[in-house]
Amino acid sequence: MADLLPTDAAAAAAIAAEHLAGLGERPVWRPVPEAERAWLSGQELPERGRALDELLDDVRTHVLPYPMGNGHPRFFGWVNSPPNPAGVLVEPLAAALNPSCAGGDHAGPHLERAVVRWLAELVGFPHPPGGGLLTSGASMATVICLATARQRAALADGWDAREEGLYGRPPMVMYVTEEGHSCLHKAAQLLGLGSRQVRMVPMDGAYRMDVGALRTMIEEDLRRGLRPFCVAGSAGTVNSGAVDPLDEIADVAAEHGLWFHVDGAYGALGVLADGAAPHFAGLDRADSLALDPHKWLGVPVGCGCALLRDPAAARAAFSLVPSYLIDDNAGDLGWFSEYGPEQTRPFRALKTWATLSHLGRSGVEDLVNHTTGLARTLAAMVEEAGDFELLAPVTTSITAFRHRPGPDDLDALNRAIPGAVQARGNAFITGTRLGGRDALRACFLHPGTTERDLAVLLEEIRLAAKAL
Ligand SMILES: Cc1ncc(COP(=O)(O)O)c(C=O)c1O
Repeated sequence: MADLLPTDAAAAAAIAAEHLAGLGERPVWRPVPEAERAWLSGQELPERGRALDELLDDVRTHVLPYPMGNGHPRFFGWVNSPPNPAGVLVEPLAAALNPSCAGGDHAGPHLERAVVRWLAELVGFPHPPGGGLLTSGASMATVICLATARQRAALADGWDAREEGLYGRPPMVMYVTEEGHSCLHKAAQLLGLGSRQVRMVPMDGAYRMDVGALRTMIEEDLRRGLRPFCVAGSAGTVNSGAVDPLDEIADVAAEHGLWFHVDGAYGALGVLADGAAPHFAGLDRADSLALDPHKWLGVPVGCGCALLRDPAAARAAFSLVPSYLIDDNAGDLGWFSEYGPEQTRPFRALKTWATLSHLGRSGVEDLVNHTTGLARTLAAMVEEAGDFELLAPVTTSITAFRHRPGPDDLDALNRAIPGAVQARGNAFITGTRLGGRDALRACFLHPGTTERDLAVLLEEIRLAAKAL
């Protein structure tokens, strides 16, 4: 195995910088040609190791020309941001150090304590020492939060879910809306709660949880002898960016002793937009909050975060320290690996620290305001145009709408539009179903997107639709 020479490292850095600098000039996305697919997925493991510079050539030729598209200012799909340059800059350094941030006295765990606190401070979530950890993304953060909620409910009822499993106990019930993210359902399945015990609470016309209906459903479940244990609100849904009435949900959770989880994976930072704070009232009352640095902040994938009001509850749900991991110097908080399922943990804190340090609080606020402003402007353009229709109010940086050039089968048309727009390469949009209708949605996360790009998007939709 060859040593890594400064010239190799400089060459890789130059390729990365060139790639990022030229992104805006290239198609947002293009399909991977058949021959390249075959090269990428069909290659044989080389018998003898190859030189580092050859590998860089391969990356330049076969990998970089086929990006997902999210580095481009006209990528509006799903919830995928461009990488923050500071995050890109330090990624190789994290790999060079290559620690496990399970715990111990080295830079990684100490830096993780700081960035988790910074994230909590940014959105105004309480941050007791040890009250959070970085994860692969919000899906894992959600598993951690709901497993913590499950164990807290069991211990409150005088039994231990880790030891006994859920056998013979009243089913634990959780409450979400139809707009709640699929990771909540996956977590419920993984934790043995069962999809059947995930209640779909009705919503108001703005796709926010109907808290009166929540209360009724909890009371009904209690009457049936079930064990309501958790309500999960959204602070920024994927489909429309809606924020549930968190304060009212917190009241109901407090009344019934339920764990209050908030999925702010994408949208919690929306609280920083001018005038947005009232929508997020009650966020600080949650027991747990999932917030993804790899979404709005642009920390290179993957980096999520689970924030916990009571760190001891997560430790009670996960801590399992075998003799070979006992660390007498670990201090009161112990190791990060005692707060979640991961043992070996990557150095996610470095890219998160670099990104947040580079942006600063004001940079984060500017980014959130800029992108939220784009979503509001697109909504206004949609409302003004005779051939588009706005489908939901804008609360964060997502605009949900549809094309309505005429009365004919609008569902089929809007279902076909995203693929057709993507194939043209000038903009990237994805679709969804919202309120029983096929819809388009544009999510704004890129600091370089301009109002001119919004006009391009609407024109691209019109052109793609005409050609269908
Ligand atoms: C609102 C919301 N919650 C949860 C998730 C899941 O997060 P991750 O993909 O980081 O696991 C996403 C991902 O897009 C999301 O947008």
